[in-house]
Amino acid sequence: MNDPRPHADHLRPDERDALLSRRRFVQTSAALAAVPIIGGGALSATAAAQEATGSTLPPLKVGLVGCGGRGTGAALQALRADEGAVLHALADVFEPKLDRSLRNISNGLWPKEEETDDEEEKPEKPIHPRCQVTPERKFVGFDAYQRLIDSGVDVVLLATPPGFRPWHLTAAIDAGKHVFCEKPMATDGPGVRMVLEAAKRAKEKSLSLMSGFCWRYHHAKRATMAEIENGRIGDLRTIYTTYNTGPLGRHDRKPEWSDWEFQLRNWQHFDHLSGDHLVEQAVHSLDKMMWVAWVMNGEVPDRVTGVGGRIAREGESSGNIYDHFALTYEFPSGVRGFHMSRQIPNCANDNSDLFIGAFGQAYMDWNRHEITGGSNQWRYDGRGKDMYQQEHDELFAAIRSGKPHNDGEWMANSTLCAIMGRMAAYSGRVITWQEALESEESIMPGPQEWGWHDFATNPVPIPGRGKVS
Ligand SMILES: NC(=O)c1ccc[n+]([C@@H]2O[C@H](COP(=O)([O-])OP(=O)(O)OC[C@H]3O[C@@H](n4cnc5c(N)ncnc54)[C@H](O)[C@@H]3O)[C@@H](O)[C@H]2O)c1
Repeated sequence: MNDPRPHADHLRPDERDALLSRRRFVQTSAALAAVPIIGGGALSATAAAQEATGSTLPPLKVGLVGCGGRGTGAALQALRADEGAVLHALADVFEPKLDRSLRNISNGLWPKEEETDDEEEKPEKPIHPRCQVTPERKFVGFDAYQRLIDSGVDVVLLATPPGFRPWHLTAAIDAGKHVFCEKPMATDGPGVRMVLEAAKRAKEKSLSLMSGFCWRYHHAKRATMAEIENGRIGDLRTIYTTYNTGPLGRHDRKPEWSDWEFQLRNWQHFDHLSGDHLVEQAVHSLDKMMWVAWVMNGEVPDRVTGVGGRIAREGESSGNIYDHFALTYEFPSGVRGFHMSRQIPNCANDNSDLFIGAFGQAYMDWNRHEITGGSNQWRYDGRGKDMYQQEHDELFAAIRSGKPHNDGEWMANSTLCAIMGRMAAYSGRVITWQEALESEESIMPGPQEWGWHDFATNPVPIPGRGKVS
């Protein structure tokens, strides 16, 4: 079903919180009366799951690692995608976020009712029966992901800051779990290699691995790509992608916070956790560059040159990342891909893509998808499902059908495309695909260094000074 309301996943964290709390609806007594009390009974988890869904399908137990805005949305979409799915376990480093996420997932499962502005009249709804997260399956801490994976889940949703992803993904695949993996998949070259390895093992084990590069599941963008592939713009010549927007939310340091806590609460602004805004956010645009280059020519870029800097980020909580990038990717066929991104407030925003071909050009943004030039005019005017729901519908259909879905290689490649762009801008050098892929520069430390202690971050890089990441 199409949800015409603004989608929480593309809002800043503070906007998302406000939106989610506005969407709490009043319960009806009828709905309440129908709810069995979950937890504490003698039923096995599987029997409880079957009872909760009332479905004849064998239950699929879903576990969410990273209970923030996107993870909460993904869990809801997973449960809506499959009538036999139940939420089995949650993992986060901050317990309040886990509890809030459980409440929001549960609220989202209840039938929608009239919205009211009167907060006083909103009694809390009970936890929905398909949320089977018993207290012993609420995992908190840096090792929470592993305990969740070991708790009997079938499907793991990974939605922490991306720095952790290579380890979380590897652990889930090694344990034989199907995975939904938010983008980006890593923040450095060594992380991308781990993801590629995990993707290979997922294939060997017939596990499904779905990426969170959601635009690949967007009906209008899929239709546009199909037109391009069918020759409507002719041979691909040039790609422009733009992601200019404002900065994401920040939290001032509290005296009791360690460095790790401070960085985690501001993770979008630190290179080891987010990869920089190029890798964390504008990677969506680079993914579309990679998509069209692959569809048309079956290629990834050879090399990239770029500039970037940090002109408007101020204060400790703005971390150590840049706020603008301009990059030129060169593909083996001679196609060039130009990318610009900015996270600076009070400037013109733009999130669009332009693919220029031999006799036409395709333009896409949030609402407009059209091809112009010559006699090949085309415009998308269909409607489709929410792209985030589409991802989960396809993931669960693949799991149920026993025909595994695997986005592993291209999702790792799109992540690497962004990482190599960052390396080029930070260093001031030309960076080849091979150099990025084989890079030994780890900016994200491994699990032995995850904890609530102090952790010094990299200084803001200055091009030409010899440092690559
Ligand atoms: N596909 C999209 O359109 C889209 C949109 C938004 C976010 N995202 C991606 O989703 C991911 C999460 O983003 P978000 O906006 O939900 O962020 P968020 O800050 O709202 O949520 C992240 C959650 O992970 C938790 N966390 C941090 N480190 C953890 C660890 N080591 N183990 C367990 N939990 C941990 C945090 O406490 C927090 O609850 C990011 O990779 C982001 O790029 C994708």
